[in-house]
Amino acid sequence: MASAVHSHSDLPELAARLRAGELVAFPTETVYGLGADATNSDAVLKIYETKGRPRFNPLIVHVADLAMAERFVSFSPMAHKLAEFWPGPLTLVLPKRPEAGLSDLVTAGLDTVGIRIPNHPLALELIRAAGRPLAAPSANRSGKLSPTTAAQVERSFNGAVPVLEGGASQAGVESTILAVEGDVVTQLRAGALPRDEVEAAIGRPVAVARHDAAIAAPGMLASHYAPNATLRLDAERAEAGETWLGFGPGPDGANLSPSGDLREAARNLFAMLHQLDEGATRIAVAPIPRRGLGEAINDRLKRAAAPRG
Ligand code: TXA
Ligand code: MG
Repeated sequence: MASAVHSHSDLPELAARLRAGELVAFPTETVYGLGADATNSDAVLKIYETKGRPRFNPLIVHVADLAMAERFVSFSPMAHKLAEFWPGPLTLVLPKRPEAGLSDLVTAGLDTVGIRIPNHPLALELIRAAGRPLAAPSANRSGKLSPTTAAQVERSFNGAVPVLEGGASQAGVESTILAVEGDVVTQLRAGALPRDEVEAAIGRPVAVARHDAAIAAPGMLASHYAPNATLRLDAERAEAGETWLGFGPGPDGANLSPSGDLREAARNLFAMLHQLDEGATRIAVAPIPRRGLGEAINDRLKRAAAPRG
Protein backbone atom coordinates (compact mmCIF):
# COMPACT_ATOMS: atom_id res chain seq x y z
CA MET A 1 0.00 0.00 0.00
CA ALA A 2 1.37 3.38 -0.96
CA SER A 3 1.54 5.54 2.14
CA ALA A 4 -1.43 7.83 2.57
CA VAL A 5 0.68 10.11 4.76
CA HIS A 6 1.84 13.22 2.93
CA SER A 7 4.49 15.73 3.88
CA HIS A 8 4.34 19.50 3.57
CA SER A 9 5.64 19.41 -0.02
CA ASP A 10 2.35 17.75 -1.09
CA LEU A 11 0.22 20.47 0.49
CA PRO A 12 -0.70 22.18 -2.81
CA GLU A 13 -1.88 18.85 -4.23
CA LEU A 14 -3.93 18.12 -1.10
CA ALA A 15 -5.51 21.57 -1.32
CA ALA A 16 -6.44 20.86 -4.94
CA ARG A 17 -8.06 17.59 -3.88
CA LEU A 18 -10.16 19.45 -1.31
CA ARG A 19 -11.27 21.91 -3.97
CA ALA A 20 -12.22 18.93 -6.17
CA GLY A 21 -14.55 17.66 -3.45
CA GLU A 22 -12.29 14.95 -1.99
CA LEU A 23 -11.51 14.31 1.67
CA VAL A 24 -8.14 15.17 3.21
CA ALA A 25 -7.23 14.50 6.85
CA PHE A 26 -5.18 17.24 8.50
CA PRO A 27 -3.53 17.99 11.84
CA THR A 28 -4.92 20.42 14.40
CA GLU A 29 -3.80 21.20 17.94
CA THR A 30 -6.69 19.12 19.35
CA VAL A 31 -7.00 15.99 17.18
CA TYR A 32 -6.62 15.19 13.47
CA GLY A 33 -9.65 16.25 11.44
CA LEU A 34 -11.28 14.57 8.44
CA GLY A 35 -11.70 17.59 6.20
CA ALA A 36 -14.07 18.40 3.34
CA ASP A 37 -15.04 21.60 1.52
CA ALA A 38 -17.88 22.88 3.73
CA THR A 39 -19.56 24.54 0.75
CA ASN A 40 -19.88 21.26 -1.21
CA SER A 41 -22.63 18.87 -0.06
CA ASP A 42 -21.24 15.91 -1.99
CA ALA A 43 -17.88 16.42 -0.33
CA VAL A 44 -19.51 16.68 3.11
CA LEU A 45 -21.45 13.45 2.49
CA LYS A 46 -18.14 11.65 2.02
CA ILE A 47 -17.32 12.46 5.65
CA TYR A 48 -20.39 10.50 6.77
CA GLU A 49 -19.71 7.63 4.39
CA THR A 50 -16.04 7.39 5.29
CA LYS A 51 -16.53 7.62 9.05
CA GLY A 52 -19.48 5.23 8.88
CA ARG A 53 -21.33 7.77 10.98
CA PRO A 54 -24.97 6.72 11.45
CA ARG A 55 -26.35 10.19 12.05
CA PHE A 56 -26.10 13.74 10.77
CA ASN A 57 -24.59 15.85 13.56
CA PRO A 58 -23.66 19.43 12.81
CA LEU A 59 -19.96 19.60 11.90
CA ILE A 60 -17.37 22.16 12.94
CA VAL A 61 -16.21 24.54 10.20
CA HIS A 62 -12.49 25.38 10.21
CA VAL A 63 -11.31 28.72 8.84
CA ALA A 64 -7.91 30.41 8.59
CA ASP A 65 -8.62 33.85 10.04
CA LEU A 66 -11.27 36.12 11.47
CA ALA A 67 -12.08 37.73 8.11
CA MET A 68 -12.87 34.29 6.70
CA ALA A 69 -15.04 33.48 9.73
CA GLU A 70 -17.01 36.71 9.24
CA ARG A 71 -18.03 35.56 5.77
CA PHE A 72 -19.98 32.63 7.25
CA VAL A 73 -21.25 33.76 10.68
CA SER A 74 -22.13 36.99 12.46
CA PHE A 75 -20.33 38.09 15.60
CA SER A 76 -21.84 39.85 18.60
CA PRO A 77 -19.39 41.92 20.68
CA MET A 78 -19.23 38.96 23.11
CA ALA A 79 -18.39 36.61 20.23
CA HIS A 80 -15.58 38.94 19.16
CA LYS A 81 -14.24 38.92 22.69
CA LEU A 82 -14.23 35.09 22.72
CA ALA A 83 -12.60 35.01 19.29
CA GLU A 84 -9.49 36.40 21.00
CA PHE A 85 -8.83 32.77 21.96
CA TRP A 86 -8.28 32.03 18.24
CA PRO A 87 -6.30 30.41 16.83
CA GLY A 88 -7.05 27.87 19.55
CA PRO A 89 -9.10 24.92 20.80
CA LEU A 90 -12.40 26.81 21.01
CA THR A 91 -15.44 26.37 18.77
CA LEU A 92 -18.05 29.14 18.76
CA VAL A 93 -21.63 28.41 17.74
CA LEU A 94 -22.80 31.60 16.03
CA PRO A 95 -25.65 32.70 13.75
CA LYS A 96 -25.12 31.54 10.19
CA ARG A 97 -25.05 34.02 7.35
CA PRO A 98 -27.70 32.40 5.17
CA GLU A 99 -26.21 33.50 1.86
CA ALA A 100 -22.68 32.37 2.68
CA GLY A 101 -23.02 29.09 0.82
CA LEU A 102 -22.28 26.55 3.55
CA SER A 103 -23.82 23.15 2.83
CA ASP A 104 -26.77 22.52 5.13
CA LEU A 105 -25.38 19.08 5.77
CA VAL A 106 -22.64 20.89 7.70
CA THR A 107 -25.13 22.67 9.95
CA ALA A 108 -27.57 19.72 9.90
CA GLY A 109 -30.27 22.21 8.99
CA LEU A 110 -29.60 24.58 11.91
CA ASP A 111 -29.35 28.34 11.49
CA THR A 112 -26.15 28.39 13.54
CA VAL A 113 -22.63 27.25 12.71
CA GLY A 114 -19.90 25.80 14.92
CA ILE A 115 -16.72 27.49 13.73
CA ARG A 116 -13.10 27.76 14.80
CA ILE A 117 -9.57 28.76 13.78
CA PRO A 118 -7.30 25.83 14.65
CA ASN A 119 -3.91 26.57 16.17
CA HIS A 120 -1.74 24.52 13.83
CA PRO A 121 0.35 26.16 11.08
CA LEU A 122 -0.27 23.35 8.58
CA ALA A 123 -4.03 23.42 9.13
CA LEU A 124 -4.05 27.16 8.46
CA GLU A 125 -1.84 26.79 5.39
CA LEU A 126 -4.07 24.03 4.00
CA ILE A 127 -7.27 26.05 4.50
CA ARG A 128 -5.69 29.08 2.82
CA ALA A 129 -4.36 27.03 -0.09
CA ALA A 130 -7.74 25.35 -0.59
CA GLY A 131 -9.47 28.70 -0.29
CA ARG A 132 -12.44 26.96 1.31
CA PRO A 133 -13.83 26.57 4.82
CA LEU A 134 -13.24 22.95 5.90
CA ALA A 135 -15.85 20.89 7.70
CA ALA A 136 -13.96 18.41 9.87
CA PRO A 137 -14.92 15.95 12.58
CA SER A 138 -12.22 13.84 14.19
CA ALA A 139 -10.52 11.61 11.61
CA ASN A 140 -11.53 8.21 12.96
CA ARG A 141 -14.21 5.71 12.10
CA SER A 142 -17.41 6.27 14.04
CA GLY A 143 -17.24 4.98 17.60
CA LYS A 144 -13.41 4.80 17.69
CA LEU A 145 -10.95 7.01 19.50
CA SER A 146 -10.01 10.39 18.07
CA PRO A 147 -6.58 10.24 16.39
CA THR A 148 -3.64 12.32 17.49
CA THR A 149 -1.09 11.11 14.90
CA ALA A 150 -1.09 10.78 11.12
CA ALA A 151 -0.31 7.06 11.42
CA GLN A 152 -3.48 6.47 13.46
CA VAL A 153 -5.53 8.21 10.78
CA GLU A 154 -3.93 6.13 8.04
CA ARG A 155 -4.72 2.90 9.90
CA SER A 156 -8.25 3.99 10.69
CA PHE A 157 -9.19 4.35 7.02
CA ASN A 158 -6.81 1.68 5.66
CA GLY A 159 -4.93 4.30 3.70
CA ALA A 160 -8.00 5.36 1.72
CA VAL A 161 -7.81 9.01 2.84
CA PRO A 162 -4.71 11.17 2.31
CA VAL A 163 -3.33 12.58 5.57
CA LEU A 164 -1.17 15.66 5.97
CA GLU A 165 1.63 14.86 8.44
CA GLY A 166 1.74 17.44 11.22
CA GLY A 167 3.23 15.64 14.21
CA ALA A 168 1.38 14.57 17.34
CA SER A 169 -1.61 16.72 18.30
CA GLN A 170 -0.77 18.80 21.36
CA ALA A 171 -4.12 18.71 23.15
CA GLY A 172 -5.40 15.24 22.31
CA VAL A 173 -8.96 16.21 23.21
CA GLU A 174 -11.46 18.07 21.09
CA SER A 175 -12.14 21.79 21.23
CA THR A 176 -14.38 23.35 23.86
CA ILE A 177 -17.71 24.36 22.29
CA LEU A 178 -19.48 27.55 23.38
CA ALA A 179 -22.82 28.76 22.08
CA VAL A 180 -23.01 32.55 21.98
CA GLU A 181 -26.41 34.21 21.77
CA GLY A 182 -25.81 37.94 22.02
CA ASP A 183 -24.24 38.30 25.46
CA VAL A 184 -25.16 34.85 26.74
CA VAL A 185 -22.48 32.16 26.64
CA THR A 186 -23.29 28.48 27.19
CA GLN A 187 -20.80 25.63 27.15
CA LEU A 188 -22.10 22.83 24.92
CA ARG A 189 -19.03 20.59 25.16
CA ALA A 190 -16.12 20.62 27.58
CA GLY A 191 -12.83 20.44 25.75
CA ALA A 192 -9.24 21.56 25.50
CA LEU A 193 -9.91 25.14 26.62
CA PRO A 194 -10.84 25.11 30.33
CA ARG A 195 -14.06 26.90 31.27
CA ASP A 196 -12.38 28.92 34.03
CA GLU A 197 -10.04 30.49 31.46
CA VAL A 198 -13.04 31.57 29.44
CA GLU A 199 -14.76 32.95 32.54
CA ALA A 200 -11.65 34.88 33.51
CA ALA A 201 -11.43 36.42 30.05
CA ILE A 202 -15.06 37.55 29.84
CA GLY A 203 -15.49 38.31 33.55
CA ARG A 204 -18.66 36.30 34.00
CA PRO A 205 -19.74 32.71 34.61
CA VAL A 206 -20.40 30.37 31.70
CA ALA A 207 -23.43 28.11 32.06
CA VAL A 208 -23.06 24.45 31.16
CA ALA A 209 -25.76 23.02 28.92
CA ARG A 210 -27.52 20.00 30.33
CA HIS A 211 -26.75 16.99 28.20
CA ASP A 212 -30.37 16.60 27.17
CA ALA A 213 -31.11 20.32 26.89
CA ALA A 214 -31.23 20.24 23.10
CA ILE A 215 -33.84 17.50 23.18
CA ALA A 216 -35.91 19.11 25.96
CA ALA A 217 -36.00 22.46 24.20
CA PRO A 218 -35.41 22.15 20.47
CA GLY A 219 -34.32 25.40 18.90
CA MET A 220 -33.01 26.78 22.19
CA LEU A 221 -29.62 25.14 22.32
CA ALA A 222 -30.28 23.88 18.89
CA SER A 223 -28.16 20.84 18.38
CA HIS A 224 -31.05 19.36 16.45
CA TYR A 225 -33.11 20.98 13.80
CA ALA A 226 -36.80 20.40 14.52
CA PRO A 227 -39.50 21.55 12.10
CA ASN A 228 -42.71 23.15 13.40
CA ALA A 229 -44.79 20.70 11.41
CA THR A 230 -45.30 17.21 12.80
CA LEU A 231 -43.83 14.35 10.79
CA ARG A 232 -45.33 10.95 10.10
CA LEU A 233 -42.65 8.52 8.91
CA ASP A 234 -42.83 5.43 6.70
CA ALA A 235 -46.09 6.73 5.24
CA GLU A 236 -47.75 4.97 2.28
CA ARG A 237 -49.52 8.13 1.15
CA ALA A 238 -50.55 11.57 2.43
CA GLU A 239 -53.83 11.57 4.36
CA ALA A 240 -56.16 14.59 4.42
CA GLY A 241 -54.34 17.63 5.85
CA GLU A 242 -50.89 16.15 5.25
CA THR A 243 -48.19 17.32 2.86
CA TRP A 244 -46.28 14.58 1.05
CA LEU A 245 -42.50 14.14 1.08
CA GLY A 246 -41.62 11.30 -1.23
CA PHE A 247 -38.65 9.09 -1.94
CA GLY A 248 -38.39 7.11 -5.16
CA PRO A 249 -41.09 6.91 -7.83
CA GLY A 250 -44.52 7.85 -6.53
CA PRO A 251 -47.14 10.57 -6.28
CA ASP A 252 -46.48 14.17 -7.27
CA GLY A 253 -45.16 16.58 -4.66
CA ALA A 254 -41.89 17.17 -2.92
CA ASN A 255 -39.51 14.25 -3.39
CA LEU A 256 -36.13 13.69 -1.72
CA SER A 257 -35.00 11.67 -4.72
CA PRO A 258 -37.42 10.55 -7.45
CA SER A 259 -34.87 7.96 -8.60
CA GLY A 260 -34.40 6.58 -5.08
CA ASP A 261 -30.79 7.73 -4.69
CA LEU A 262 -29.78 8.05 -1.01
CA ARG A 263 -27.00 10.60 -1.65
CA GLU A 264 -29.44 12.85 -3.48
CA ALA A 265 -31.95 12.39 -0.64
CA ALA A 266 -29.34 13.34 1.97
CA ARG A 267 -28.40 16.43 -0.03
CA ASN A 268 -32.06 17.50 -0.24
CA LEU A 269 -33.17 16.54 3.26
CA PHE A 270 -32.79 19.76 5.25
CA ALA A 271 -33.65 22.13 2.42
CA MET A 272 -36.89 20.26 1.69
CA LEU A 273 -37.90 20.02 5.35
CA HIS A 274 -37.35 23.77 5.74
CA GLN A 275 -39.31 24.47 2.56
CA LEU A 276 -42.29 22.26 3.48
CA ASP A 277 -42.27 23.61 7.02
CA GLU A 278 -43.22 27.04 5.64
CA GLY A 279 -46.77 25.91 4.83
CA ALA A 280 -47.41 22.39 6.13
CA THR A 281 -48.71 21.41 9.58
CA ARG A 282 -48.30 17.67 9.01
CA ILE A 283 -45.74 16.08 6.73
CA ALA A 284 -46.07 12.45 5.62
CA VAL A 285 -42.68 11.00 4.69
CA ALA A 286 -42.29 7.97 2.42
CA PRO A 287 -40.27 5.00 3.70
CA ILE A 288 -36.53 5.40 3.17
CA PRO A 289 -34.30 2.32 3.09
CA ARG A 290 -32.04 1.94 6.13
CA ARG A 291 -28.89 1.00 4.23
CA GLY A 292 -25.86 3.28 3.73
CA LEU A 293 -26.68 6.97 4.17
CA GLY A 294 -30.30 5.89 4.74
CA GLU A 295 -29.43 5.17 8.36
CA ALA A 296 -28.45 8.81 8.99
CA ILE A 297 -31.44 10.10 7.04
CA ASN A 298 -33.84 7.96 9.08
CA ASP A 299 -32.13 8.94 12.34
CA ARG A 300 -32.57 12.61 11.52
CA LEU A 301 -36.20 12.17 10.46
CA LYS A 302 -36.92 10.23 13.65
CA ARG A 303 -35.53 13.07 15.78
CA ALA A 304 -37.49 15.62 13.77
CA ALA A 305 -40.64 13.52 14.28
CA ALA A 306 -40.16 12.97 18.03
CA PRO A 307 -42.80 14.57 20.26
CA ARG A 308 -41.55 17.66 22.07
CA GLY A 309 -42.45 19.10 25.40
O1 TXA B 1 -11.30 19.69 18.23
C1 TXA B 1 -12.26 19.64 17.48
O2 TXA B 1 -13.25 20.36 17.62
C2 TXA B 1 -12.19 18.63 16.34
C3 TXA B 1 -11.05 19.07 15.41
C4 TXA B 1 -10.94 18.22 14.18
O3 TXA B 1 -11.21 20.43 15.09
N1 TXA B 1 -13.43 18.57 15.61
C5 TXA B 1 -14.56 18.02 16.15
O4 TXA B 1 -15.64 18.05 15.30
O5 TXA B 1 -14.62 17.55 17.26
P1 TXA B 1 -16.97 17.24 15.49
O6 TXA B 1 -17.64 17.29 14.15
O7 TXA B 1 -16.73 15.89 16.06
O8 TXA B 1 -17.79 18.09 16.51
C6 TXA B 1 -19.10 18.44 16.17
C7 TXA B 1 -19.89 18.80 17.37
C8 TXA B 1 -21.32 18.34 17.21
O9 TXA B 1 -21.53 17.02 17.64
C9 TXA B 1 -22.05 19.34 18.05
O10 TXA B 1 -21.98 18.90 19.38
C10 TXA B 1 -21.22 20.60 17.92
O11 TXA B 1 -19.98 20.22 17.42
N2 TXA B 1 -21.79 21.56 16.96
C11 TXA B 1 -21.36 21.89 15.72
N3 TXA B 1 -22.14 22.80 15.15
C12 TXA B 1 -23.09 23.08 16.05
C13 TXA B 1 -24.23 23.95 16.06
N4 TXA B 1 -24.52 24.72 15.02
N5 TXA B 1 -25.00 23.97 17.17
C14 TXA B 1 -24.71 23.19 18.24
N6 TXA B 1 -23.67 22.34 18.28
C15 TXA B 1 -22.88 22.30 17.22
MG1 MG C 1 -15.03 12.42 17.27
